[in-house]
Amino acid sequence: MQKLTIAIAKGRLQTESLGLLARADFNVSREMLESRRLAVEDETGRYRFIFVKPADVPVYVEHGIADCGIVGRDVLLESEADVLQRLTLEIGACRMVVAAPSDLTLSSYGMLRVATKYPRVTARHFGSRGLSVEIIQLSGSVEVAPLLGLADCIVDLVETGRTLRENGLRIVEVIAESTARLIVNRASYHLKAEAVASLIDSLGKAMSQET
Ligand code: PRP
Repeated sequence: MQKLTIAIAKGRLQTESLGLLARADFNVSREMLESRRLAVEDETGRYRFIFVKPADVPVYVEHGIADCGIVGRDVLLESEADVLQRLTLEIGACRMVVAAPSDLTLSSYGMLRVATKYPRVTARHFGSRGLSVEIIQLSGSVEVAPLLGLADCIVDLVETGRTLRENGLRIVEVIAESTARLIVNRASYHLKAEAVASLIDSLGKAMSQET
């Protein structure tokens, strides 16, 4: 079967992704995992895993550098990459929300300043409600922006809610629910059909064993 390259989002999804892959019998040696190598092979040599920033996973897959990728739906909502979504994975569950310091009446603001890592989702969300917003794009630690006066509210992810709580924010509205997705390059889906189908099948079985 053809070799597959799979891009994995670094960060909070990485451990869960590797756990799911291990349950599906894709094993990477401990030595490889403990190294700082960003491209490693599994023990069979049939799969190569590359670890990249979440927002870059669809980029590698769209360009065919990776045949497949594991990344959150939140990233895909923001991305304009042309990739196939082929499996919903039961990992990385979180919500994308609007959060603010107190019960903010969004419509009472002339021009809301919204800090976020998700400018396109934010523009679509507020645009669809006819609200004008100034989007302040940040790369992380978004929850601190209202506290410091950079923004009136934020659009960000909530998993346990702890970061919001500890920074004095509360959820104003939920924009989307998110879990991880398996995405596939359009050409690989056809040219490496057998290998891709086998990966999808193995991941699907690993998930159904857990439920
Ligand atoms: C994510 C997200 C929130 C936090 C939510 O950040 O952007 O900040 O986790 O988790 P919680 O609800 O369990 O507290 P991440 O750790 O990925 O880092 P970031 O600040 O760089 O976005």
